Amino acid sequence: MNKKIGVLVSGRGSNLQALIDRLPGLPLEISVVISDVPTAFALERARRAGIPALVIEAGGKSRQEFELALAGALCQYEVDFTVLAGFMRLMGPQFLAQAPGPVINIHPALLPAFPGMHAQAQALAYGVKVSGCTVHFVDEGMDTGPIIAQRAVPVLDSDDADSLAERILEQEHILLPEVVGLVAAGRVVLENKKVRIKGE
Ligand code: GAR
Repeated sequence: MNKKIGVLVSGRGSNLQALIDRLPGLPLEISVVISDVPTAFALERARRAGIPALVIEAGGKSRQEFELALAGALCQYEVDFTVLAGFMRLMGPQFLAQAPGPVINIHPALLPAFPGMHAQAQALAYGVKVSGCTVHFVDEGMDTGPIIAQRAVPVLDSDDADSLAERILEQEHILLPEVVGLVAAGRVVLENKKVRIKGE
């Protein structure tokens, strides 16, 4: 039976779109898309695909209220797990305790290098020769949870933050649907804070 997922977004939603485009080949459906930003284009992408699109804003709520509201909506849509796809907020213990099932996140760097905001600019400023993207389980830290999979992207001398971000994004659009499909298929196993992919 198909798994149900919830996707949390804050912006343009190109990773959400990559998931939507790959849905026919994946053992899952997207039950709900939730944004903390009412103007996020990701909401429009969800509506066009016929997926319920909700806005839950942080403003006017305590952090605890906001996290419980998000987790409550995910429970209401009976999701099996949650994907953060460009969701630009650090989620705390309330959310993780109440969210139905695991939470995974995509980050535009090879973690544990360059967590947090502007990861591509951080990579360029440091002068690394290779960067990339990471999909990981979310824990209470900032981009610190167990790594599920990564894809590398060479950094070119001619790169600026935008060109590097664009090439990393191409790899994100491959990696995220692949990993979400593996999680939905029950092939991602977490043992002693390390991830093993069954059948690989
Ligand atoms: C993506 O590059 C994603 O990895 C990044 O935001 C972008 C969202 O793009 N996420 C983070 O930096 C989280 N720390 P999208 O809205 O087009 O998918």
